[in-house]
Amino acid sequence: MSETTALINIGSLVTNDVELGEGALGLIRDAVVVIEDDRIRWAGPSAEFDFADRVVDLGGRAVLPGFVDSHAHPVFAGDRADEFAARMSGQPYSAGGIRSTVARTRAASDEELSTGLDRLVDEFHRSGVTTFEAKSGYGLTVDDEARALRIAGQRTDEVTFLGAHVVPPEFVDDPDGYVSLVTGPMLDACAPHARWIDVFCDRGAFGADQAREILRAGLEVGLQARVHANQLQPGDGIRVAVEVGAASADHCTHTTDEDLSLLAGSDTVATLLPGAEFSTRSPYPDARRMLDAGVTVALATDCNPGSSFTTSMPFCIALAVRDMGMTPDEAVWSATAGGARALRRDDVGRITPGARADLISLDAPSHIHLAYRPGVDLIDRVWRAPRTPRVTT
Ligand code: NIG
Ligand code: FE
Repeated sequence: MSETTALINIGSLVTNDVELGEGALGLIRDAVVVIEDDRIRWAGPSAEFDFADRVVDLGGRAVLPGFVDSHAHPVFAGDRADEFAARMSGQPYSAGGIRSTVARTRAASDEELSTGLDRLVDEFHRSGVTTFEAKSGYGLTVDDEARALRIAGQRTDEVTFLGAHVVPPEFVDDPDGYVSLVTGPMLDACAPHARWIDVFCDRGAFGADQAREILRAGLEVGLQARVHANQLQPGDGIRVAVEVGAASADHCTHTTDEDLSLLAGSDTVATLLPGAEFSTRSPYPDARRMLDAGVTVALATDCNPGSSFTTSMPFCIALAVRDMGMTPDEAVWSATAGGARALRRDDVGRITPGARADLISLDAPSHIHLAYRPGVDLIDRVWRAPRTPRVTT
């Protein structure tokens, strides 16, 4: 029989299970969690704790599920610090900047891309992210997209084909030709390495009809959909996402009441990415309005070298609370259970029997401190269940 480990003396525990504790976070004060192998075996109040082979005393610290970052672009070469500096002196953000990262990424060796990814994965882990999604989208040729997905698959199961990030320079005069490439040979080469397909449906990227065509082609070969929607201006991205049954519409910075009622009446999560508004000096999405309309909201980093070069979910939580009208409880739910919902996972984002043993303790007595103490590294310990990598060739 395998050994059990009890985390004892937990000041407050976020389970994200309404049956286990108070409120939407299923909060338990003075709690114990028992881990067996890679799974949670038990979670409850100290008074009901029975036995474990070994104990770890957390001294009153808060414990919560590891963060689930459901939107990131961590496979790329180079950075765009100069573009960021130019923006901070007044230049607007545009989708066109993506092309400079495409040039750097195409020129990079596999090893360079893997090393860059590993560095960001280490940052994710240190900041409490235990599940992350990784998109391609900086290769934009058949080989470069497939390569990015293979490299991403070495570090995560949540791999997303984003060949439709922007139209690459060699296709500027033939965008439809590029859509044919994405839905044909590129999809054939990429689908075996991915779980998801994504399209940037916005100004300077792809229109609604192109997005529908690309997402439907992906669905036909067994990928599931997610969409970059309504980031730069109001538009059809959210409508398309809901229409194709996407797991998530991401950004949702510019939304109409109709967009919100479409989302609220669907299984499509609105994934908000406040790091992008922070780093592009744009108005934040109105999370309060979305939550009040009944939309399910996730928070994610959008980690990428252009619009949001952060791996910090605590930073995103703090922004969401301060500038998007979320309560600390809502923001913590969205960064854990919400991210799991956006990835259609029920084994992460919660601390309940049977879930993966992915959890974090804070150098603080409650999860509220994540927003209350912005910019302070509060992550004490991170437990990550080992991953059995999906093997693709
Ligand atoms: O999610 N919006 C599209 N893609 C990224 C930005 C990528 C970049 O600027 O390199 C985003 O913000
Ligand atoms: Fe993105």
